[in-house]
Amino acid sequence: MGPRGWRRRALAAACLGCALLLFLGAAPRALRSALETRALGWLSGQRKTPLQRLYELDQDPRSALAEVHRQRRDLLRGACSRHTRRQRLLQPSDLRHVLVDDAHGLLYCYVPKVACTNWKRVLLALRGGAPGRDPRSIPAHEAHAPGRLPSLADFGPAEINRRLRTYLAFLFVREPFERLASAYRNKLARPYSADFQRRYGTRIVQRLRPRARPDARARGHDVRFAEFLAYLLDPRTRRDEPFNEHWERAHALCHPCRLRYDVVGKFETLAEDAAFVLGLAGAPALRFPAPPRPKAAAAARELAARLFQDISPFYQRRLFDLYRMDFVLFNYSAPSYLRLH
Ligand SMILES: *[C@@H]1O[C@H](CO)[C@@H](O)[C@H](O)[C@H]1NC(C)=O
Repeated sequence: MGPRGWRRRALAAACLGCALLLFLGAAPRALRSALETRALGWLSGQRKTPLQRLYELDQDPRSALAEVHRQRRDLLRGACSRHTRRQRLLQPSDLRHVLVDDAHGLLYCYVPKVACTNWKRVLLALRGGAPGRDPRSIPAHEAHAPGRLPSLADFGPAEINRRLRTYLAFLFVREPFERLASAYRNKLARPYSADFQRRYGTRIVQRLRPRARPDARARGHDVRFAEFLAYLLDPRTRRDEPFNEHWERAHALCHPCRLRYDVVGKFETLAEDAAFVLGLAGAPALRFPAPPRPKAAAAARELAARLFQDISPFYQRRLFDLYRMDFVLFNYSAPSYLRLH
């Protein structure tokens, strides 16, 4: 790249940075007015935007759900201002996980293991890509096919900032260790993830198991949870490349202290929160595909507790430190099974 190219790149990055910084600047108190400014900024259009609907609900003291989401936003803002120091500027490529629905004015940051396949199905259905608009009819591989849904990273800084200003941005999060336990089970412990086992399992076994048997080294099919955690905590892991998205921290995927999220949905209350977002999107009739049943939710909690039971307090503490920001920003308390002291 010649000097002109670099200058252009530096300029683009700087513009993105300063414009995004505008979104950060507001203190928690100023949130409501920030939402107001953004919601009213788009009043010229005919149809109400999701952001305007949220703003109206926010003004309505009878909407208990809007109040819940306002508190979550306030908590996130407060935690961000207490816990984050100066950060590097965001580049468009940092916004890969933020999917764009231009027709409805939505931005959705997907976090794997938090119903993201179903959210991608819903976004495709909203775009009219599903026969009869039933998200469940869209196969998972289609929902995940690269390029099916545009991401913010596909746009230039000005186009990114316009969308950040006028669209409703939301993400869904989950108790961090349950998410981690679920990633381990689906990607490393289950036999159907041969792909992940070859990519990550073999690496973990070769690096961390001193006298590994040849077939374990070749297949990576029998990684224990303790080995998986040791791999996460090994400084070489993140030096080589970023964590895989299935175990990368939600804040590192979605940058909730840099971008302003209007709705923080939770896996633990997926059905209500999804309905809330779909109502704001102007598609209240769209049914979110099967949220986890109470029994499955309890099983996921138990799985995490059982897996962590065999982990030494030393590793528990270090792992909690690694995922601490996800606990803090999204208001999850340290699980009672941890031995942190
Ligand atoms: C944070 O979590 C606590 C404990 O679970 C809960 O009582 C409180 O309502 C939560 N706050 C928000 C803003 O979600």
